[in-house]
Amino acid sequence: SVKIVTIGGGSSYTPELVEGFIKRYEELPVSELWLVDIEAGREKLEIVGALAQRMVKKAGLPMKVILSYDRREALKDADFVTTQMRIGRLPARVLDERIPLSHGMIGQETNGAGGMFKAFRTIPVILDIVKDMQELCPDAWMINFTNPAGMVTEAVLRYTDFKKVIGLCNVPVNMVAGIAKIMGVEEERVTMELQGVNHHIFATDAFVDGVSVIDEVVERYANIDAEDTIAMKNFVSLPYSPSFIRGLHAIPCPYHNYYFFTKEQLEEELEQFKTGTVRGEVVSKVEEELFELYKNEELAEKPKQLEQRGGAKYSDAACNLIASIYANKGDIQYVDVRNNGTITNLPEDSAVEVACYITADGPKPIATGELKPQINGTIQTIKTFERLVCEAAVTGNRDLAVTALNMNPLCPSDTLANVVVDELLEAHKEYLPQF
Ligand code: G6P
Ligand code: MN
Repeated sequence: SVKIVTIGGGSSYTPELVEGFIKRYEELPVSELWLVDIEAGREKLEIVGALAQRMVKKAGLPMKVILSYDRREALKDADFVTTQMRIGRLPARVLDERIPLSHGMIGQETNGAGGMFKAFRTIPVILDIVKDMQELCPDAWMINFTNPAGMVTEAVLRYTDFKKVIGLCNVPVNMVAGIAKIMGVEEERVTMELQGVNHHIFATDAFVDGVSVIDEVVERYANIDAEDTIAMKNFVSLPYSPSFIRGLHAIPCPYHNYYFFTKEQLEEELEQFKTGTVRGEVVSKVEEELFELYKNEELAEKPKQLEQRGGAKYSDAACNLIASIYANKGDIQYVDVRNNGTITNLPEDSAVEVACYITADGPKPIATGELKPQINGTIQTIKTFERLVCEAAVTGNRDLAVTALNMNPLCPSDTLANVVVDELLEAHKEYLPQF
């Protein structure tokens, strides 16, 4: 029997996760699923928790779904702890997007200034959760989906002695699906070599049944129709030029759009800024609709509308990861782990997002060697930014925050770095006790 604890259980994404556990019950017999939230989230947790209970009941499984507002009570003897909380909820996300945009800077929840402040709000909380886990369930795995997933994972790796943390994102599984489509084969036959950090990864090799097909993938991707560009639901990805793809000889991830189409993405976001449709504002509306649906007592499954969210396929990524650890499967999945020399020219103690064999002893990253010149610069830059952000998040050092932002390619000026940092520090001060 397996006890799972989900922190941030009141999230609108929870039915996605519950569906994943139901589908895999045979191989992963979850006996208790504890959905934990804070008091302020009671209304949401009650609604989504009741839906989760109906889903399990309809499936006829002996899986108990328990709602809790007491994290410590919930964590006791957990086997897996998944984290999906959003500190400050969607209004904080909207500020992360709108404040940089008001100064003509990209505003995004995991990149640039927005990503930095989401890290500042989240890292102190994740470090507290780790402390509780070390006391109450020291052998449990922490599977973190809270964004920015790479930096949050890195903070745990660098600032605690807890080793059983894994960061998770759905971008890699979307890339696998995209490559499978390009090659006209089933997703199960495709694996990748990945190099990079969360939301800044490149597929530097791709395999069908273990045989490298990167030359063909690159050639086909260079000439792909715009609508087949590998994309996420939360922003429009412009297709990279054939020259760029062939010159890279790798497949970039959708989030690279912010760096290689900065001008176009900024124009698009400034339009959203004007019309009150930045992503956090759009998502707030989608969430309201979702919770209206969730309230319907006839509903006992994940509604289709959840697929409008960027996190679609999360449940597959998360539940496959947990199932493979539980059953020591040794299959390949893509997660955020301590580098440990997997990418030889990045720091050992940093988080990287790479292909790993998933075993009962955790993910075993597959060595990738050095970053080649085409992708080395941008990954080093983002990793530098991330390292400084993690340190600033722990120390509350404003100078480091300004320096980190200056190092990020999305910040066009030191003057603006100072202004944006100060405005965001002020806007989020109730969630930033360390500053
Ligand atoms: C993608 C990313 C996630 C992110 C999500 C945002 O799936 O991988 O890290 O949380 O998009 O989606 P949303 O619908 O909240 O904008
Ligand atoms: Mn992600």
